[in-house]
Amino acid sequence: MTFKKSAIGIALGATLLGAGFTSAIAAEPTIRELAKERGRFIGTILNSEWFNDDIEPEFEEIHKTQFNVVVAENEMKFDATEPAENEFNFTKGDKMVEYAKANKIRVRGHALAWHSQVAAWVSSNYAGQKEKLLAVLKNHIEKVVGHYKGQVAEWDVVNEAINDEYNADWRSSGSVWYEGIGAEFLDSAFVWAHKADPNAELCYNDYSLEWGLREGSKASFVVEQVKRWKKNGIPITCVGTQTHIEIAHETTPQNVRALAKAFAELGVTLNITELDIGFPKGESGKLTAADYAKQGHLYRQFMDVFLEEPNMGEFVIWGLTDAHSWLDEQQGKTEGLLYDKQYKPKPAYDSIMVSLKEHPAANVVSPYSDIEIVDPIDTTGTDSTDVGDSTIAVRTVAGLAGSLSMHVSGHTLFIAGAKAAKVDVFDMQGRSVFSGKCEKGFVELNGIPEGLYVARVRSGSASLAKRIAIK
Ligand code: XIL
Repeated sequence: MTFKKSAIGIALGATLLGAGFTSAIAAEPTIRELAKERGRFIGTILNSEWFNDDIEPEFEEIHKTQFNVVVAENEMKFDATEPAENEFNFTKGDKMVEYAKANKIRVRGHALAWHSQVAAWVSSNYAGQKEKLLAVLKNHIEKVVGHYKGQVAEWDVVNEAINDEYNADWRSSGSVWYEGIGAEFLDSAFVWAHKADPNAELCYNDYSLEWGLREGSKASFVVEQVKRWKKNGIPITCVGTQTHIEIAHETTPQNVRALAKAFAELGVTLNITELDIGFPKGESGKLTAADYAKQGHLYRQFMDVFLEEPNMGEFVIWGLTDAHSWLDEQQGKTEGLLYDKQYKPKPAYDSIMVSLKEHPAANVVSPYSDIEIVDPIDTTGTDSTDVGDSTIAVRTVAGLAGSLSMHVSGHTLFIAGAKAAKVDVFDMQGRSVFSGKCEKGFVELNGIPEGLYVARVRSGSASLAKRIAIK
């Protein structure tokens, strides 16, 4: 596809009225600015059309203005990165990483061990041969994660390994990895990925987790596996709920909240990794303002949950514009994204903004320890100060913290930079465990059991939130 110059001019002119550029005109913040202030990442994929230079110019303009985390729709999958045995192709992945660097966007890597989009040579050469398959998967993970070491912040190490039965279990058919190796391919994949990049966050990612934690559900199955992985020292740090849903799935945001709480107990982050909220394709052309408002309401509920749960870090939507979406191409669904086919922001966009604005930065906890969240417009730094006894230092919101700092030793929380401060301590599920005033430079947190908490200190307009460990 080529774009005539005049068409670009008209299209960009129209987009100027849209959300992508509102910050330049009406000083409205962008999604990424609000996400950054909250220590969170909100983003979307780069569609395959972007990699092929076959997409409207508005796409990239909006993408880099509005979002601070990115995923490749197909270009980092096995068949794309290792099309022939031990012959790697990183051209497209590198293109994305360069783009992300230039625009200060975090990169999620998707996906290492998955039954789908595996290069054909794997099955045709090695189906059923355990040792060979282990060697192939190990080499793939080492080479791909190694190539992107330090540049890809987080990997979907294993994708969709659970079946769709009522009583969830591993996907035992249609997976070259499971059929040839058995369930240990999952554990190994995490270990190899960690070795190749010890600083990368490592996720298990799957769909239908938003159906809830009932007995036998996929979600419950993942919780059990994460327990086992943690117990056995398997280096998993996050779970991704893909969350491809439909407009009728009204209970899913609260199911995701319950999931976040379950993983908080296990010390694991929950990310929304592939959200779309589609309408049945047959309704295309018949959708009303009320339908779009309902879609917006669901998006907003997901954003509310995301901002309220302290162990959620990334909110990724599986596409930017309804003009380019796997929903229409493969799912019998349509119009599930934030921008319409003309790149105009939909009510869903506004709903997300409302949610962000209603959750001030001081109340949102970032689950990341040493990650700098910056954007091209505002490059204020972050505070990575040592937090004394704590094992984890949580990034502070620069600008808001002022000169406040804190550290914990045993059960004493020391606060510097303010004569008097209000102190709140929450458990990892957001429940208040302490609330009081600090007037002597420290407060005693006696009676709080050992564990991980979030402490929030406020003095005047300054506010600082950190994860602390009470030992
Ligand atoms: C989809 C892509 O959007 C399509 O272009 C491709 O043809 C198939 O895969 N779960 C995942 C994603 O983990 O990788 C899938 O992406 C969507 C479902």
